[in-house]
Amino acid sequence: MRVLTACVALMAVGCGTPKEEPPTFHADVRPLLDQHCVRCHQEDGLGVGDWTDDQIVDAFADLIADRVETGAMPPAVSEPECRDYVGSDVLYVPQESRDIVSQWIAAGRPMGDPADNPGVVVGDVDLVDPDVTLMMPVAYTPTFTDPENPGNEYRCFLADPGSEEIFVTGMDPVIGTDSLVHHVVLNTLDRSDISDEMLADDGWNCIDDMDGDNMLAGWAPGALPVEFPDDYTMTMGGSKVLIIQMHYFQANPEDSGKSDLSGYSFTTSETPGRPLYLVPLGDFSFNIPAGDASYTSGGRIRHSDLGVPVGLEIHSIFPHMHRLGTGYNVSIEHADGTETCLVNGRYDFDNQLTYQFADRPMFEDGDRVNFTCEWDNSADNENQVGEPKDTQYGERTDEEMCFFFTLVSPGAP
Ligand code: HEC
Repeated sequence: MRVLTACVALMAVGCGTPKEEPPTFHADVRPLLDQHCVRCHQEDGLGVGDWTDDQIVDAFADLIADRVETGAMPPAVSEPECRDYVGSDVLYVPQESRDIVSQWIAAGRPMGDPADNPGVVVGDVDLVDPDVTLMMPVAYTPTFTDPENPGNEYRCFLADPGSEEIFVTGMDPVIGTDSLVHHVVLNTLDRSDISDEMLADDGWNCIDDMDGDNMLAGWAPGALPVEFPDDYTMTMGGSKVLIIQMHYFQANPEDSGKSDLSGYSFTTSETPGRPLYLVPLGDFSFNIPAGDASYTSGGRIRHSDLGVPVGLEIHSIFPHMHRLGTGYNVSIEHADGTETCLVNGRYDFDNQLTYQFADRPMFEDGDRVNFTCEWDNSADNENQVGEPKDTQYGERTDEEMCFFFTLVSPGAP
């Protein structure tokens, strides 16, 4: 792309040796930032600084170069060699693009002409035109007073999609106060299981027990909206209501006393499509020894364990661990011995994505899915809070998880 734009810029004087022209900010660097960084580095984003502002980018230039050259930014994603994901071009920065940033800094950061900006079209960070939005009943101010879970609060709220079934084609959370929210999970609950406590507008404490029978969706920092392929829908409403589970986390003292009003937005269809189900694959029985810098655990599931008579088309996987997580891998081992990689990469708590498969593999009779999680429980892990201690499965931030929320639909496409 750089060679092309440089070539266009040189047209007037003949398209000679474009590579000798150093990259400029407007022609080469701005499009890369727009494509790979701005979704987090903007006002109210997860990252630092508003990089839609050229002067702020200039002030950050040396740090940007450093993080891009070392590969520390953007946060790690599932390896593109594993498979092709929807949005791979945004999530993953190829080496050629990293080189452009280095060359620009080395050339003294020439700004160039704003007219040379090729106008990269970046994928939407929010769901376009949602037609149903379900919010918490009222804004809630986390108290962070639970002595067992300092700085953490799980609060659940009921939301009622109505007694008619709704066929969902896409979903995206509406986050009120970004700095407080560590995750949002939507669970379904049978109307007959609603207790009095659940009817309170300001919700109930749910750190020890996530009520509900099935998970419908999950969001954690960095996640992008999920849109299902044409002709597939997920059903909500009818005999079931939703529980919105908020995980609040107090990262800095200035957040104390802030309130939050979050929820979820959906695009819908008049008619049901092929049904989608979220299957949580997980390992609950690990014990990560204190001090172990690379501990791996996981599990496997055979197709025959599921008790479904047909193959399953696999749409997406959302890997989820807590702060000690460093890596994950999920693959299908087929009956004939071949293997299909589903997700494989370095884990980053600040970039928890749902990997949607561009080309959806089947999980059939005779196959099995193998999954592993890797953690760093040494004192060197900068996410370690306090002294390393033996760590098991649990909801709290100082406990760990190894989940792969997998979206499937029964039968071949
Ligand atoms: C998924 C969100 C996300 C994306 C995408 C992202 N960043 Fe970041 N970035 C963060 C977060 C969170 C931090 C602060 C925590 C940290 O330093 O790890 C950060 C910190 C940084 C910092 C350090 C600022 C400082 O003062 O230390 C730089 C530089 C940076 N990012 C560069 C980039 C560049 C360049 C890109 C694109 C190529 C990018 N980031 C994409 C989330 C993101």
